[in-house]
Amino acid sequence: MTSAASTSTLPAVPGTDPSRCILDSFRISIAKRIADALPALSVEQAYSGVDYGKKGVDFTVALPRFRLPGKVDEHASKVVSNFQPDDWVQSVTHDKAFLHFQLNTTTLLKQVLTQVHALTHETASGKPEYGENKSGAGKKVIIEYSSPNIAKAFHVGHLRSTIIGAFLANLYKASGWEVISMNYLGDWGTQFGMIAVGFDKYGSQEALEKDAIKHLLDVYVKVNKDAEADPNVKVEAAKFFKRMEDGDEEALKNWRHWRELSIKKYVEEYDRLNVHFDVYTGESEVGREWQDKALERLNEMGLISDVDGAKLVDLEKWKLQKAVVRKKDGTSIYLTRDIGGAIERYEKYKFDKMIYVVSSQQDLHLAQFFKILRLMEFPWADNLEHVNYGLVLGMSTRKGTVVFLDQIIREAADVMHEQMRKNEEKYNAVEDPEGTSLEIGITGIKIQDMAAKRVNNYTFNWDRMKSFEGDTGPYLQYAHVRLASIARKNPNLLPLPPPSEIKVDLLADSPHAREIVFLLGSYPDVVKTVLKTHEPSGVVTFAFRLAHAISSAWDVMIVKGEPNEDLAKARLWVYLSARDVLGAAMRLLSIRPLERM
Ligand code: ARG
Repeated sequence: MTSAASTSTLPAVPGTDPSRCILDSFRISIAKRIADALPALSVEQAYSGVDYGKKGVDFTVALPRFRLPGKVDEHASKVVSNFQPDDWVQSVTHDKAFLHFQLNTTTLLKQVLTQVHALTHETASGKPEYGENKSGAGKKVIIEYSSPNIAKAFHVGHLRSTIIGAFLANLYKASGWEVISMNYLGDWGTQFGMIAVGFDKYGSQEALEKDAIKHLLDVYVKVNKDAEADPNVKVEAAKFFKRMEDGDEEALKNWRHWRELSIKKYVEEYDRLNVHFDVYTGESEVGREWQDKALERLNEMGLISDVDGAKLVDLEKWKLQKAVVRKKDGTSIYLTRDIGGAIERYEKYKFDKMIYVVSSQQDLHLAQFFKILRLMEFPWADNLEHVNYGLVLGMSTRKGTVVFLDQIIREAADVMHEQMRKNEEKYNAVEDPEGTSLEIGITGIKIQDMAAKRVNNYTFNWDRMKSFEGDTGPYLQYAHVRLASIARKNPNLLPLPPPSEIKVDLLADSPHAREIVFLLGSYPDVVKTVLKTHEPSGVVTFAFRLAHAISSAWDVMIVKGEPNEDLAKARLWVYLSARDVLGAAMRLLSIRPLERM
């Protein structure tokens, strides 16, 4: 290798961090050449114009974006004629308004692999950190997600919120933020009056202990039927809820028990999904005083009108309709609880940002309460963000019945289990087929959910979910397992020598190694991009690109059977690094990467 490229000779550019993203150094090196040739530009300005190139090109600069006086061709010629290859950049070509840069392959391989290694296996925290950044250091975010309604079905909409929210929580942590994961249960409202009325008639303690969520839903469905025939049921229910709101202990006793049992059951299921919450709160916990204060303030500001005893905020001016903030009987409602809840959370946590992961069916609701908080002139109201998502269509079990979360998970596991059994030899080699199929099944659900843009509706497809072919969860797990197995199959090469002694220059003419390593180098950028878009699909796409690049390397870039041991070791290093990064991407998506299957 030529004299080692050193990051210390490059200028510093704000917002970059070569110690966590070595491609920053390559980009800075490109930017410096441009700034040297075109003195009107600072390195920082030039840097902002260095983008990933199209296929076969490492980085591209579109000159017109700099809006420099004079002709683009002349600018290009200056850069090209000044160009000297060095350890960072190998060549430049001029193509119309573009300059295309190729990186020095040996430096690329060495620097990226060394960084992946150091930030995976040699961190001060003892945990893998490759891909992470510090952009959120010192800042606090509350991420509210999942938020099912106790005693109503945990439907696929909540599952989406759970999956996307868990990803966002991981993402913000990976970007240095302090994250508070919050589950805001729908545990308050007239439906509990309905259930209380229904429970007297249809409830069973035994069924409740067995599966609280399911039983309460049964009761709820039955009492709703009754209510259709008999309007009195709703009146009774509203009376009961009013007693709850007034703090009547007798009325609250059962409710409290239902809530506890439901949470217990949810926690088990979240565990299986690899999802965790720092705070379980709920609509019931929003202090009445915060809601009252909010209404008072709105009133003072002249924003409230009275219609038949109910109180409304008129948001027509912003095309957000009229919103009821308090019912005629004085009981609280969903919207007001959200308003009071946000104020209360700000007082308690002083967050820098709060994200609500809620279905796009509630776009209006979220827009209304964000608007009301802004009208109330809370400066932090601008730091609220709604991360929404589309519907899941066609989601019922294979037998066609309504689904609960635990059924979805169980069924996904069963589907995978059946699938694995088809290959008896492999099946017998797996230590824990039940656990493994559960994990693959969950991966299938998650990948299906996060593969496309959030706002898109998608149709749940059991066949596709369980397939090992195409861009599916099982395929991704398989790709990781295959990488993990390469270490087990080559014990004679392990442990690898320290990075500085591995002869990566032997890989300099391997397009496969180069492609894989360039992708590995781009992972920290992927993380930064999705932090802006809040799109898990960006990480899913990356994971599949990497998996594909690896899969086309297998037969060419062989390790076992390669007579040159130095070359075999260098290749093995690429594969092990690919495993580290694929594993990191999967974990970011809340997926547990498997070692065997
Ligand atoms: N529990 C609600 C539902 O299932 C979702 C809650 C969303 N969060 C919020 N702060 N409103 O529809």
